[in-house]
Amino acid sequence: MEWGLRNRLSRIIRPTTGHTVMLAVDHGYFLGPTRRLEVPRKTIEPLIPYADALMITRGVVRTSIDPRTNVPIVLRVSGGASVLNEDLSHEAVTTSMKDAVRINASAVAMSIFVGAPHEHDSLVNLGELVNLGEEHSMPVLAVTAVGKELEKRDARYLSLACRMAAEFGAHFVKTYYCDPGFDKVVESCPVPVVVAGGPKLETAADVLELTHASIGAGAAGVDMGRNIWQSDDPVGMIRAVRSIVHEGATAKEALGDLKGGKGKR
Ligand code: R5P
Repeated sequence: MEWGLRNRLSRIIRPTTGHTVMLAVDHGYFLGPTRRLEVPRKTIEPLIPYADALMITRGVVRTSIDPRTNVPIVLRVSGGASVLNEDLSHEAVTTSMKDAVRINASAVAMSIFVGAPHEHDSLVNLGELVNLGEEHSMPVLAVTAVGKELEKRDARYLSLACRMAAEFGAHFVKTYYCDPGFDKVVESCPVPVVVAGGPKLETAADVLELTHASIGAGAAGVDMGRNIWQSDDPVGMIRAVRSIVHEGATAKEALGDLKGGKGKR
């Protein structure tokens, strides 16, 4: 891997642990003002010290993140369909590589929609984004299994989608956890896999168990949104997630810290 590309990627996936806690706050690009992300700055600012990277759009970077903040940016560069549309897969690359470089992004991210009506376009777009990424030493994160494909998120589907993303040249892949078989998803994907949290889970224990199981199955980390900032204690939750991802805590230990309100890890 080229030096600049490796350097950028190592800002996101910490070389000291080989893991990452990315904070996903890009939801507005198709969901608008999602609950608890209505005023992005308010939600995001307190969490920045605990995030290894922010997954975010250029609009929210420019309006809501202090440019002096030294948090790596994983820039969401695809879009084109809203939640009002039946078919969420009709996306294109909407933010240029030039703008990503201008923002000093550490990576760019786009969704692919394997098995959806616009599968072909999303895959071709991924190939083109990787071509540009290689030219600019910009890692590409392929996001798989969003939207309707969520219903099909068993190990077989996720293995297919993640492996295809890697074969197209994505430098890392974001997908959802599944049980059974997530270890096989990770094993058959030759690039690092990060796990999305998905819609808010019922309890904090569920979130921490999901995190622990993902890391146990070989994931490089999480790229989590709603289960952090929609929780009653977002800072406590991201700290608890970090303790699992970076310090090898069990879900129970992390939950103990969270409930104790100490955030000691
Ligand atoms: C997916 O593409 C979205 O834009 C989010 O980045 C993703 O769903 C991760 O956030 P959450 O943990 O809330 O699912």
